Order: sequence, then structure tokens, then C-alpha cells
Amino acid sequence: MHVRRATPAAATGRPPGDERPNWPVLAVAGSSRGRRGATTSRRRLTRWRASGLLRAVTGSNDRDSRGPSTLAVHGGEPYVRPGRSLTVPAVHASTYPFDNTQELVDFMEGRLERPHEYGRYGNPTVEQAEAKLAALEGAESAVLMSSGMAAITTTLLGMLRPGQHIVLTADVYRRTRQFAGQVLQRYGVDVSIVEPNIEAIASAVNDQTRIIFSEAPTNPYLRVPDIAALVDLARSRRIKTIIDATLATPINMRPLDLGIDVVMHSATKYLGGHNDLLGGVVLGKRPVVEAVREQVGMFGPVLDAHSAFLLVRGLKTLALRVVRQNETALRLAARLEAHPQVKQVWYPMLASHPDHESAQRYLRAGGGLLSFEIHGGLSAGTGVIDGVRLFKIAPSFGGVESLIEQPPLMSFFELAPEDRARIGIREGLIRVSVGIEDADDLEADLVTALDRAAARV
Ligand SMILES: Cc1ncc(COP(=O)(O)O)c(C=O)c1O
Repeated sequence: MHVRRATPAAATGRPPGDERPNWPVLAVAGSSRGRRGATTSRRRLTRWRASGLLRAVTGSNDRDSRGPSTLAVHGGEPYVRPGRSLTVPAVHASTYPFDNTQELVDFMEGRLERPHEYGRYGNPTVEQAEAKLAALEGAESAVLMSSGMAAITTTLLGMLRPGQHIVLTADVYRRTRQFAGQVLQRYGVDVSIVEPNIEAIASAVNDQTRIIFSEAPTNPYLRVPDIAALVDLARSRRIKTIIDATLATPINMRPLDLGIDVVMHSATKYLGGHNDLLGGVVLGKRPVVEAVREQVGMFGPVLDAHSAFLLVRGLKTLALRVVRQNETALRLAARLEAHPQVKQVWYPMLASHPDHESAQRYLRAGGGLLSFEIHGGLSAGTGVIDGVRLFKIAPSFGGVESLIEQPPLMSFFELAPEDRARIGIREGLIRVSVGIEDADDLEADLVTALDRAAARV
């Protein structure tokens, strides 16, 4: 068994044996700065984080070469916790009092730095989750928000200015596309939504382009862009790249290692992993992430302490869950591909997938999501969905429970069949999110439902 014994002295700079609770008030040299607004306060906290003092308190978030399972359990965690608890506590606090007026004035005038002041500017439990996510993703910094959409909208609103331009790939999450088309454009940002290939992206780029945004893999067809080509293109034009890697998780791909500037996830999915929380995270180099954090302090989409606690707990088993989901999904994909009722399967690790080569290059495994089209269209699909017992009919994915849905009747319900066809959503399409149940049971459930559907056609 590997036991890592870091002394409190190594972690906190305190003498051995001094295991006072974390989150100390830190005195710094005098400063002539005047009274701060919220922004100045955030800057101060940002400096405090950047100075490495936060690392002294929360454990190292330097790039860590330990394995993903070890990082999931120990990554970003402090060596000393309040009450010496092994687990990370949920700190339910909206505010953090000052001892006296002098302390407040010292803080306002920049002579005193302290980690927490008010809940919109930071929470100890949320910061623990951020430190663990940064360790897993190999990021300098991470900022959590109340949902994946909060992370996407806050980041894009913060990074873009009127007159600038963003390129998105057409298969990004429906709400991301709507946000760009409806909200960003209203604020004067030019938006191009293009096919998810490097030629289409390159031809959409212009002198005002600031961001290229894509998912990897995408949903529901699990497309995997050529990330190296994307990075080359963006760097040659001084454009920032953002990848929504929700489907990949840091277990299957770490886009920052591939040269991507910013990674985001809906933490609602694999990161939380238990279908019991909503969250979103943005990761990357410290200046970009701290700029996004500044926006969070203004817009207010903070993650609550309870969700952060659940997230830390869920992350401990991230590697175990994802490895299991990878294996089961690959097995189901191969089984479905051999089933006579199935027309086509989309799973990146199948040789038949259009981006199989790219997937092999960039993904360690294919993930827990797969899509397939069955003969007989929408009604045959409904027969399968209503025929399974273990898979629950629900939106979302990435949790321990297996889920199933018909994209034409879920995410794309509001579109007419011809509009669905135009954007490539086939009527007989079914999307499966593989949980952690026994693969034998999942396979039997799905195949029985397919056999019954085949008998009805
Ligand atoms: C790829 C992707 N990104 C972002 C989101 C939005 O995340 P949330 O539901 O946590 O707001 C989703 C939601 O399904 C998604 O699939």
C-alpha cells in the first residue's frame, strides 16, 4: 500500500505537530492601497492564490505526475483539515467575520490578506473541489460554478467583447449553441457555427476571431476533432481554444496537455457521477481562470458547499467509474453493432466510427456514452426504450445509473422531423449512458428489448 506522509510543516510551513485548522488569516506587509471594492478584494484573493499561499493551505496543485486514481483520491487535498478529519468538510457559510474593526480596515487597505470574506468570492469546500479537479486535469487553476451552462455562459461573456468573433462547431451542446446564437450576438459578438472539421473551422476564422469552441467527444455522435490541428490553427492566429470535455473526463483525455487553452466540464455528469448534483468547471492557466473567477464574483453563479462536498466525494471514484464505464460501453457497442435490428452504432473506439483514427490518437478510451440507430425509425426506438428495465429514461449522462433516451424525443423534441434530419438527428436514434451495473445485465436488458422490437417490425 502506498502511504504518503507529508508533514504539516512541509504542507503549511508550520512547525511539525502544529495541526491548527486550515484557512488562516495571513498578515502581509503594509500597503498604501486605498479602500477596495469587491473587484479589488477578488484581485487580492487571486494574488494570494497565485502567490502559492493557497497551495500551502490546500495542498499542491502543481502539475502532479501521480496516476489518475491516486489524483482522484488525494489530488489537491490539504494535509491538515479542521478537526483532523480524513474527509473534506462541507462549510456552509455565506460570510466570514472579522475579529475587530482594525482587522477589517487592514483588510480593506490591503495590509491583511485572508482566504475568505463572503460566499460569492469563495468557499473552502468549493476550493477543495477546485484543487482536486485542477490536479486531475493537470491545470494551474480551476473555478467551479453552479452548472455546466453557468461555466460556459460566464466564461464566454467574460472573454468576449462587442465586435469580436467566436467559432463554434455545429454539434456542441444545444444550449451552448443557443447561447452563442441568441445572447452573444445580441451583445455584438459575431458568431460562426460550422461543421466539426478543421477545414470548416479554418475557413470561418477571421481577424476578429478570439475563440474557437468545440466539444470532444461530441454528443450524440461522439465526434472527435483533430485537436493538434485545432491548436496549430489557433496558435498561428493568436486565438484561444476552448474544449468542453464533459464526455471525455480527465481520465480519458486531458486537453490542456494537448495544447488547448481552456477546458470545461459539466460536473453534473461524470465528475459528480451520481446524478445528484449540478455543477460546471473551467480549467486552464491561472490568469485565464482567475479572470473567469472575477466574473463569477460579479455574475454570481457560485457552486454551493453541499454540492461541492458531493463533488469531492464523487471524484474519489472517478477513475474507477470511468474505467468501468469505458469497458462496458465498448462491449455494448460491439454487441449492438452485430445485432440485426441495429443500422449503425456510434462509438469512437469502434473501427466503423468516422473519427476512429482521431479517437485513437487523443482518447485513452471511448467513454460511457454511445448512440445507435435502429431499423423502424421513431416507433421502433420507442419500443426499445419502453422495453428495457435497467436503463432509466432520462436526460443527462455520466452517472452510476444507466440511462437511455431517444434524442428526437428528448433534446430535439421541439424540432420538426425534417429539421431534425437537416441537422443529422435520425428518427431511429437511441442514446445510451452506461452506468456501473454489471455489463452482463446491461447487455441482456438491451438485447432482449431489441429482440422484442425486431419481432414487432
Ligand atoms: C457537453 C455538455 N456540456 C455542457 C452541458 C451543460 O451542463 P449542465 O446541465 O450542467 O448545465 C451539457 C448538458 O447536458 C453537456 O452535455
